[in-house]
Amino acid sequence: MALPTTPRIQKARPHISQNENLIFENSRPGSRAYHLPPSDVPEVAPSALVPSHLLRQDDLSELPELTEPEVVRHYTRLSTWNYGTDTGMFPLGSCTMKYNPKINEWAARLPGFARSHPLAPEATVRGNLLLMKQLEEALCEITGLAAVSLQPTAGAHGELTGMMMIRAALTARGDARRYVLIPDAAHGTNPASAVMCGYKVITLISRKNGLLDLAALDKAMTDEVAGLMITNPNTLGLFEEDIAKACELIHARGGFVYMDGANMNALVGIARPGDMGVDVMHLNLHKTFSTPHGGGGPGCGPVAVNRELEPYLPCPTLRRVDDQTVVFDNDRPHSIGRVKAYYGNFGMMVRALAYIRAMGAEGLRAATETAVLNANYIKHHLQDDYEVPFDGPVLHEVVFNDRRQQAYGVRNGDIAKRLIDYGFHPPTMSFPLVAPGAIMVEPTESESRAELDLFIASMRAIAQECRENPEVVKTAPHLARLRRLDETAAARQPVLRWRPSPAVKAAGA
Ligand SMILES: Cc1ncc(COP(=O)(O)O)c(C=O)c1O
Repeated sequence: MALPTTPRIQKARPHISQNENLIFENSRPGSRAYHLPPSDVPEVAPSALVPSHLLRQDDLSELPELTEPEVVRHYTRLSTWNYGTDTGMFPLGSCTMKYNPKINEWAARLPGFARSHPLAPEATVRGNLLLMKQLEEALCEITGLAAVSLQPTAGAHGELTGMMMIRAALTARGDARRYVLIPDAAHGTNPASAVMCGYKVITLISRKNGLLDLAALDKAMTDEVAGLMITNPNTLGLFEEDIAKACELIHARGGFVYMDGANMNALVGIARPGDMGVDVMHLNLHKTFSTPHGGGGPGCGPVAVNRELEPYLPCPTLRRVDDQTVVFDNDRPHSIGRVKAYYGNFGMMVRALAYIRAMGAEGLRAATETAVLNANYIKHHLQDDYEVPFDGPVLHEVVFNDRRQQAYGVRNGDIAKRLIDYGFHPPTMSFPLVAPGAIMVEPTESESRAELDLFIASMRAIAQECRENPEVVKTAPHLARLRRLDETAAARQPVLRWRPSPAVKAAGA
């Protein structure tokens, strides 16, 4: 099939107008966005209700005074400056920015779920406990492991929890091992979590094909080593094909295997880490199971363990009494304790179970197959223009690099900026570190073939621009609201508040 020849660039961002910044600047004293009915209670001085030292002293005249349509337009316009999975393809490798189905949101907003209080007596939230248990059971089935804790609130939090359980199990044996082995193609949070847990990290250099080097593992695995932490599929989108042998080797020398399961989008319904010999792993509900990433907001990184590590799970655990009844179990003498206030981010659990139930076993498997097919489709169509540093069949994501474009003075960051002009969120840049100049694309299963073709056509058009007119790429974006930002200042000193211009201040004075 022919790819579209007209990338989206001509249609990009038609709604941008010159005066869109100015709504708050239109402040006029006396404008109101609300009308309250006359008060029917006696007026009371604020200091009679709130201690005077807590009363606000500053002058509020700098705040804009606007009508309701102006306020609504301001915020609606701001929302259109954002880019999300509801806007278009979001190929941010490793992050699995798949579409978040709206049925999940409906379920999470049902009043019985949304309004339940974390301190509500157990007997009044039986339905919620049952839902959590059902999710745990589904995740056990998906991972092939024996038990799950839903408490951790992020992938990295799950990693720390898992490593703490390994440590507790070794301590119970009287074994104070000090090192953890981590391949260089593992996610960066893996060494960070091991260190947070008090271990020293030994990095295993991967083979030329980007996969775990069993001989290096064999050499490094001593009775000082607590175990292996391995991301599978790894950050190159490659399946660690020696995972079962690695587990055998580690177990034979008294260690444990932690698998970073954040990339389960490539395995769900096809292969189970528990069956490969993995002892403990985490899942990112905010990746694989379609819950929102939340801009740093609530996430959920459940941790799954085998029978040997089950006693160490965070407490309380959930115990099923019968078909309909689930209770908290606090009688867990070997538990590592709580890792989160209350029981984790419940709303994420509702969304994930809604997704799992809506998809069913067949649907989950189909999603995995489509995610892998989409990544390979992109690899196939872009490998003539962009170098693939670690070749071989990829799973859910594909890593290119910018080596060919460097000949024209263009770097991966320039390509990312130019892609914004074409209406796409950029892929992940310069990660993983084992692939210098990386451009890491994860299309996910959410995208149609038409959208994938548009992305491919855009990337090819950019490769052509690099050859024929590199300046246009090096100075991109040209059509975005903002041009190139000082990325360090944007990250370190973000401007997150509107501040009045001198004109507004003068009007208020
Ligand atoms: C492979 C992998 N492991 C771990 C993490 C960490 O997850 P989180 O950001 O939820 O802490 C990520 C995040 O994207 C990841 O891609």
